Amino acid sequence: MKRLLSIAFKSPVHRWLVVLIVLAMCLLTIANQTEILTIGIITQKSMPPTEHGLLNRVTDWINARISIDDHLTHLALLIFFVALFKAVVLFTHRFSTRLLAIRVSADLRQRYFEHIQSLPMTFYQHYNMGSISSRVVGDAALIAEALNACLVNYLQTPFTVLTTLTFCFLTSWQLSLLIFLGFPCIIFPIVFIANRVRRISRQIQRNQETFTSVLLDFLGGIQTVKVFAMEDFSLEKYKERNDKMAALEVKSARYDLSSRPVVHTIAMLFLATALLYGLYVIHLGVSEVLVYCGMLYLFYEPVKKFAEENSHIQRGITAAERMFEVLDMKSDMADAPGSHSFASLQHSIEFKNVSFRYLDEWVLKDLSFTIKKGESVALVGPTGAGKSTIAQLLPRLYDIQGGEILFDGKPIHSYTQKSIREAISFVPQRPFLFIDTVAANISYGKGFSQEQIVKAATRAHADEFIQKLPQGYQTEIDEGGKNLSGGQQQRLAIARALVKNAPILILDEATSALDAISEHYIKSAVKDLHGSVTQVIIAHRLSTIEYVDKIIYLENGQKVAEGPRDELLRICPGFKRMYDMMMLQKS
Ligand SMILES: Nc1ncnc2c1ncn2[C@@H]1O[C@H](COP(=O)(O)OP(=O)(O)OP(=O)(O)O)[C@@H](O)[C@H]1O
Ligand SMILES: [Mg+2]
Repeated sequence: MKRLLSIAFKSPVHRWLVVLIVLAMCLLTIANQTEILTIGIITQKSMPPTEHGLLNRVTDWINARISIDDHLTHLALLIFFVALFKAVVLFTHRFSTRLLAIRVSADLRQRYFEHIQSLPMTFYQHYNMGSISSRVVGDAALIAEALNACLVNYLQTPFTVLTTLTFCFLTSWQLSLLIFLGFPCIIFPIVFIANRVRRISRQIQRNQETFTSVLLDFLGGIQTVKVFAMEDFSLEKYKERNDKMAALEVKSARYDLSSRPVVHTIAMLFLATALLYGLYVIHLGVSEVLVYCGMLYLFYEPVKKFAEENSHIQRGITAAERMFEVLDMKSDMADAPGSHSFASLQHSIEFKNVSFRYLDEWVLKDLSFTIKKGESVALVGPTGAGKSTIAQLLPRLYDIQGGEILFDGKPIHSYTQKSIREAISFVPQRPFLFIDTVAANISYGKGFSQEQIVKAATRAHADEFIQKLPQGYQTEIDEGGKNLSGGQQQRLAIARALVKNAPILILDEATSALDAISEHYIKSAVKDLHGSVTQVIIAHRLSTIEYVDKIIYLENGQKVAEGPRDELLRICPGFKRMYDMMMLQKS
């Protein structure tokens, strides 16, 4: 709850909006009460006045000022202005409430996105896409809704209840005592239901996360689902989650919706009693009973809504807990204070006794090697040896658990992460294209000129196929590059890396999906950079790395041998086996 309110009071604009809402809420209550009093005054005019209190006094007070007794038009004008007042207040209240909800959820979505961007890769490993996306979209809206419910329940309702009760007492204290009896009868079911709703809404939100994950998993793997004709299997998995969701929603709706009828029945019972008692026992005038019942309605209305609003609050609290679970996470990879900018590689990159694990198992064990400036180094080894892991440690996507990674003799964490990443061009093993144009995907937020983009695409042997696309460089790429072939996607990723012109180039299986001709072109483009750009190349096809200065051969996260190809062929049986196999395939 504290969290919810802290969100509302975070920015000055929000604070002003809350003040406006509270003011409008109070005025709205006053407008409602005035409206009922006005109706009382109208009905009283057609009846002989009784000597009982409040209504007479109000009528006399108004009469003294605008003489409604003699001028019916004055009475009509009074009603009109009361209605107008209510309309203005109602609009202000609704609009400011909506505005606060919109602003708060937009703010939260922004904060959430900014925050998760700053979190390390390990965060993405723990949370799946469904969970992250359902939080950012759904929870922000729930929190905003809950905020409004908080204002209604904890400010407007007490104000309405207190002021209306005062009116009721002033009209007839005997009748008002009756309402006091009714109050506990209403509060009890409300509290009971609110507790139930809170428990169920927690379950719903948890289920929603897995539900979204199942859906995203299905959409991401649609090709596999179809190829394996596993639609029924997916459907069953989906149905199970969907049914569970529906069951929970029914349960929540049952409690949620039962509160109003229960409270309504009790309220009607007391209303009927008040009517009978007022008219026939203490002989109040009809207009006074009318005003009284109107006030009673005003009194019970927010109480009736309390349970509903409370269920919004409970849902908002659960959503806030989930959202803050992520927002409170501190990035354990934040730049150290005093870390400096890495301009360009001057001497070397060194792995010194590096050990690393993603989860429990060590993936790299006591690994040491040096890459000198301008050198081209290939990482070779069987699948799962840890090659891609090394490639990801260079731009510090993960922190190591043992040893040191040194850039020009200084530990990697003494530099800002941004500056290190800016000095590296990276083509990952599974390149990713964004939903944007081909040109934007190559320049990727860096504002390169069209000429630079075309030049990089040409070197990546991509210009030819891009020219053939319907809108050339302006062709929109579908989600995940669906409208391009695997090889085309890879070539765009290479163009993206080349246009960046960074001093360090990492290619992780960058040409694995390419035909021999395309590979040849790209190989010569990369070869041209030999000497001027420090290169780390991972390739299964040894033909790709013919020109490199040295090869590091790895097995099970450990370096087995290091040196030029011919030397490795002599001293490293594992590498020789791999090489011989390649030669055999070629011939
Ligand atoms: N994100 C991850 N979380 C947990 N374990 C991982 C993760 N990525 C890789 N691994 C594990 O780390 C080990 C090394 O993986 P890595 O991707 O570095 O191998 P690789 O040498 O690049 O293999 P390949 O030639 O198949 O690309 C593997 O055993 C793999 O299961
Ligand atoms: Mg790999």
